Amino acid sequence: MADENNPSGGNGGGTGATNGKNGKVGLVERVTTGVKDDIQALKTDIPAKAKEQIEGLKDPTKTQVYTSIFRHKHDDTPRNRALGVLSNVFLHLHPAKINRDAVRYSYTWGMGGITFYLFIILTYTGVLLMFYYHPSKVQAFRDVLYLEHDVPFGKILRNMHRWAAHLMVIGVWLHMFRVFLTGSYKKPREFNWNIGVLLLVFTLLLSFTGYLLPDDQLGFWAVTVGTNMARATPLLGHEGPFGSMLGMTPYNDVRFGLLGGSIVDANALLRSYIWHCIGIPIVASVLMIVHFWRVRKDGGISGPAPVVLEAEADKPRRGPKAAGE
Ligand code: HEM
Repeated sequence: MADENNPSGGNGGGTGATNGKNGKVGLVERVTTGVKDDIQALKTDIPAKAKEQIEGLKDPTKTQVYTSIFRHKHDDTPRNRALGVLSNVFLHLHPAKINRDAVRYSYTWGMGGITFYLFIILTYTGVLLMFYYHPSKVQAFRDVLYLEHDVPFGKILRNMHRWAAHLMVIGVWLHMFRVFLTGSYKKPREFNWNIGVLLLVFTLLLSFTGYLLPDDQLGFWAVTVGTNMARATPLLGHEGPFGSMLGMTPYNDVRFGLLGGSIVDANALLRSYIWHCIGIPIVASVLMIVHFWRVRKDGGISGPAPVVLEAEADKPRRGPKAAGE
């Protein structure tokens, strides 16, 4: 409020502010003005906000929350599809564009993906089995009986784990076979083939270490035979080539290391358990990450000769090859 005694005309800033009566703008008056302004603002803001919310209920895709999550329109344009993939944390693990012919089931058999899917099932069911299983000579077999007969859904849980394990071994062989048949081990994919060979070995090791865990006759003798073969390992087995020259005996060679002793007993069970549940899954997971990353870096899945769909047969083909034709 302006005042004759206050040529500046201001009422803010404290000392220079005056009013007609005592030369100063009172605190009460300033608060009152502020409150009036706030009420005025609310009168306009509330209807605007209410209108926005009603609009949001009519069309949720226009709300601030929705657009902060889905940042691109769902128009079916190549650009929007690519942006949709690139800006989503899960989808961006896949390439934004792929060669349609390379992902035909008749070409890949889907075997790499199926093998990975089985690995996920094995990890999930394996963790659930850990809630019931103790890796000790006294309890291991009893826990398996308990799972089979008493634990709710225990039988199906154990069998899901067993069947997924068998299928993963079959899947990884078939995947390797298809990679071989399509010549996908050739340049530039040689390195990924080698990662694949390691994955095959670790898949078989997962299967082998799981064999002993029920502590039944089948597992006991399988591991007895398997680890007896380790006696003959070159250099590291006491019966293998050059083993004895390097000082290998039944009490310090690779078989002894695998069993944690010279016979298949409690230490072997504990070692199998730790390799099976911790050591090998971690190494295999890291190798899988490298494997998938390499598939992308090597230009995506290798492709067969392009297939022309019936619907597209009459349309002019795109790309440099088509231009040169
Ligand atoms: C745990 C085992 C494995 C998993 C989960 C796995 C997974 C995959 C996946 C998802 C792909 C994409 C293409 C497809 O699905 O066919 C792939 C490609 C490939 N894998 Fe494997 N794989 C495994 C083992 C192996 C083995 C044992 C080999 C060979 C020794 C191998 C060699 C390759 C190669 C060279 C490619 C690129 C193929 C191409 O571009 O056509 N992988 N793998």
